[in-house]
Amino acid sequence: MIFTVAIDGPAAAGKGTISRAVAERFGFAHLDTGALYRAVGVKGGDPVAAARGLTPADLARDDLRTLEAGQAASKVAVIPEVRQALLDFQRDFARRAGGAVLDGRDIGTVICPEAEVKLFVTASPEVRAHRRWLEVGGDAAQVLAEVKERDARDMTRADAPLKPAADAVVIDTSRLSIEEAIAAACAVVSERL
Ligand code: C5P
Repeated sequence: MIFTVAIDGPAAAGKGTISRAVAERFGFAHLDTGALYRAVGVKGGDPVAAARGLTPADLARDDLRTLEAGQAASKVAVIPEVRQALLDFQRDFARRAGGAVLDGRDIGTVICPEAEVKLFVTASPEVRAHRRWLEVGGDAAQVLAEVKERDARDMTRADAPLKPAADAVVIDTSRLSIEEAIAAACAVVSERL
């Protein structure tokens, strides 16, 4: 069976948690596409060459989840050649047998416009910054400023900006528990399966 679930949204909206839970519940493979951009961002050197030559070892680095890696990712993510270099890998993953969940910024709009399910998971910048601060600590005001800076960069770039696909189901997690958000996402998938 080929069945693609595209989950997009801004930083720290709950995409990762929801994606992993949906994949587990339905037995689908899961690709966190942000990790590809993070790996390119932290590799240093020429980002286009880094994207073309990305290896499993690059994706296994344990410093990919830091705030710095997130900022570095969103800077290389504006480069069209970087996005192009990562396209086929993501599309091949999406059409593998057995179903796939991909989470990112442009899965429903660019990578998999034919996805069977498209979700746009969002929350207010304040709620997202608070969640990120609970994970990483540090100065809360700075975490909020970084979340807003990354949102602005992701939403205003010319190539594949962050926005909901016209046919995406929007899930605002600002007032939802993790369990409620997962249940809402699973309900949409169940309907379309
Ligand atoms: O989701 P995550 O926070 O790991 O993504 C890091 C950055 O990678 C995002 O801020 C965005 O700039 C970029 N990204 C992207 N397209 C994707 C996934 C991530 O541009 N599909």
